Amino acid sequence: MTAPNGTVTVRRLKDLATLVSLSKRRGFVFQSSEVYGGLNSCWDYGPLGSAMKYNVKRIWWNAMTRRPNMCGIDAAILMHPMVWKASGHVDGFSDPLVDCKDCKTRFRADNTDSYINKKQCPTCGGKNLSEPRQFNLMFKTHMGPVEDQGSVIYLRPETAQGHYVNFQNCQVTTRYKIPFGIAAIGKSFRNEITPGNFIFRTREFEQMEMQFFVKPGTDEKWFNDWKEIRWSFYKKYGMNMANLRFHPHGPTELAHYAKAAEDVQYLFPMGWSELEGVHNRSDFDLTQHSKFSGKNLEYFDEASKEKYIPYVIETAVGCDRLFLAFMCDAYREEVTLDEKGQEDVRVVLGLHPEISPVKVAVLPLSKKDELCNLGEKLRDQLAEDFEVQYDESASIGKRYRRQDEIGTPYCVTVDFDTLNDQAVTVRHRDTMKQDRVAISALNEYVRKGMKESF
Ligand code: GAP
Repeated sequence: MTAPNGTVTVRRLKDLATLVSLSKRRGFVFQSSEVYGGLNSCWDYGPLGSAMKYNVKRIWWNAMTRRPNMCGIDAAILMHPMVWKASGHVDGFSDPLVDCKDCKTRFRADNTDSYINKKQCPTCGGKNLSEPRQFNLMFKTHMGPVEDQGSVIYLRPETAQGHYVNFQNCQVTTRYKIPFGIAAIGKSFRNEITPGNFIFRTREFEQMEMQFFVKPGTDEKWFNDWKEIRWSFYKKYGMNMANLRFHPHGPTELAHYAKAAEDVQYLFPMGWSELEGVHNRSDFDLTQHSKFSGKNLEYFDEASKEKYIPYVIETAVGCDRLFLAFMCDAYREEVTLDEKGQEDVRVVLGLHPEISPVKVAVLPLSKKDELCNLGEKLRDQLAEDFEVQYDESASIGKRYRRQDEIGTPYCVTVDFDTLNDQAVTVRHRDTMKQDRVAISALNEYVRKGMKESF
């Protein structure tokens, strides 16, 4: 419903297709290998998407590594194969799969309603089905020129194991005492049976994971503390908190390593779904790596003179999934009716400015040389501090709309008065309010606005 008399009504994102289309049209996300027809479940981040993804990683990285007793690592994707034996992934990281012998569909036995209820294929309804077989989700490849059993190596299905095997290296080199944490951002790979929902579930994705090593007995307190820390992160970056909730795992959902786990769920267009996991992994990981490597991974607590295997509190979020959540949350359509009753729709990505791929757009009011030359100078001045776009084509109204749609918080218009008063008009994305600002004070105006107004 749209209200009359120029009142603005706001429509939220109704489906992922709208976002997929905007992403392609404006250069956020493209299908991978599109010229060859695409590769299922693989996506490429375009000019705006890669800039925004970098911002998402940066805010997470800063939120983690700027805390006391925190450090970062960047571990290799390829790890010693024993890592995955110790972690339980070789034996346990699998889904039960069923093949339909009639239509050749392969589907998961544990989350397909037609199979669970009626033992029917979800595609053709047939009953000519195989028994469920365990299918390991790790991608396998071979290291070196010989492709035999001895050269098998896996693409990591999570970054977390890099933290565990470097637990002592990090502790010794940072000289941190427990409790301390390690953060990392990196690609992970899972041969998912049912990828989909755009970049929500893919086979190649990026994870942002943090492992916090604590004294046994303090783990429950730290688990709760980290839930709060992560909750405040989403708040700080402008998420609509009504779209977030915690979902505690019941006994049947808990992973083999977990003592307790809660998902941060986000209300995506397809419904409430996991965005991030906060896990109490007990001493499972370090105990396993001690056992399998033969190295003693105990920590010596100098204060109490005790030796123990630390417990681990993990926070794990997919960068791509968080990118998607930020996009879904930020998308809005502001609808007004014109005199003829026609809808005028302003699409806005109301992203927090630290996440927006472009912070300021410079728009000369006309294509006259004197305005464009000044506009280009201004672009260079602003680019010292911010990501800037310069745009001199189409009407000013159209150019504002282009910037609204990609989430640019500020548009700077250079007009003929600028030539005399050395000032420009700054237009705000969310309020469309306009301010006249001296060119000499412009960078500071934007910096201050980004810090204080969002
Ligand atoms: N180290 C623990 C771990 O990996 P997880 O719940 O399997 O836990 C953590 O994954 C997060 O990684 C998820 O909450 C999700 O945001 C992201 N993630 C997992 N699988 C994914 C996939 N196939 N595509 C995109 N993101 C994924």
